[in-house]
Amino acid sequence: MNVPLLRVRDIDTYLGDSHVIQGVSLDVPAGKVVALLGRNGAGKTTVLRSIMRMAPPRGGTVTFNGRDIGALATHEIARARIAFVQETRAIFPSLTVDENLAVAARSFEGGAWSLARVYEDFPHLAARKANGGMQLSGGEQQMLAIARALVSNPRLMLLDEPSEGLAPLIVRQIANVILKLKAEGMTMLLVEQNLAMALEVADEVVVLGKGRVRWSGAARDFRSQEEVSRTWLGV
Ligand SMILES: Nc1ncnc2c1ncn2[C@@H]1O[C@H](COP(=O)(O)OP(=O)(O)OP(=O)(O)O)[C@@H](O)[C@H]1O
Ligand SMILES: [Mg+2]
Repeated sequence: MNVPLLRVRDIDTYLGDSHVIQGVSLDVPAGKVVALLGRNGAGKTTVLRSIMRMAPPRGGTVTFNGRDIGALATHEIARARIAFVQETRAIFPSLTVDENLAVAARSFEGGAWSLARVYEDFPHLAARKANGGMQLSGGEQQMLAIARALVSNPRLMLLDEPSEGLAPLIVRQIANVILKLKAEGMTMLLVEQNLAMALEVADEVVVLGKGRVRWSGAARDFRSQEEVSRTWLGV
């Protein structure tokens, strides 16, 4: 059996005195999309921040590409080619689209995802190259945040609710981008509250509730899990 690209084993993470993540384990196999689902406050963002060691776990292990990354600093994890597209999108509002991408691209030159290729795949951004980050719509900012992650040529992308707050047409575009990246072999761990979108793009599903994994399995098997949906997603 293949070793998954990302293996999270039994992590415990505290925020202040609060034991937010309680023994969470999950695998992200290479080339797959794993959706991490759960209600508000379930701990989804904290799992991603634990992987990046922005919220360092107190226990458990995180292995990436066969290497224990538990002793690395956040910037070293990024350099090991895990890209984190945060909920805040965190683009530079005073820089243009082109400058935002150039800053991110600098650190990993020579990878498959050049600026030119990103513009080919994101024609909306190409048309706004010279626009300031502040002038972009919410959807364009999200596209820029994803594009910026891509030009760092990651082997794994962590995406925190990319569809949040966006109109259905834009959510469709984001889903198409994720499907395209998946077709090109990108591995992704996707936090989503948009269940339909998550189930469309994901191969596997992990349901988080109150800091623990409540269900995990193939995305196609999730639809029959009505009780899991009701209890842990409220749908
Ligand atoms: N600084 C903090 N100190 C203590 N508890 C915190 C802190 N920040 C967040 N929490 C709690 O940790 C839990 C998990 O938060 P987290 O942001 O990981 O959830 P989430 O699943 O990403 O939620 P959302 O869907 O709203 O983004 C929540 O119950 C939250 O109230
Ligand atoms: Mg969150």
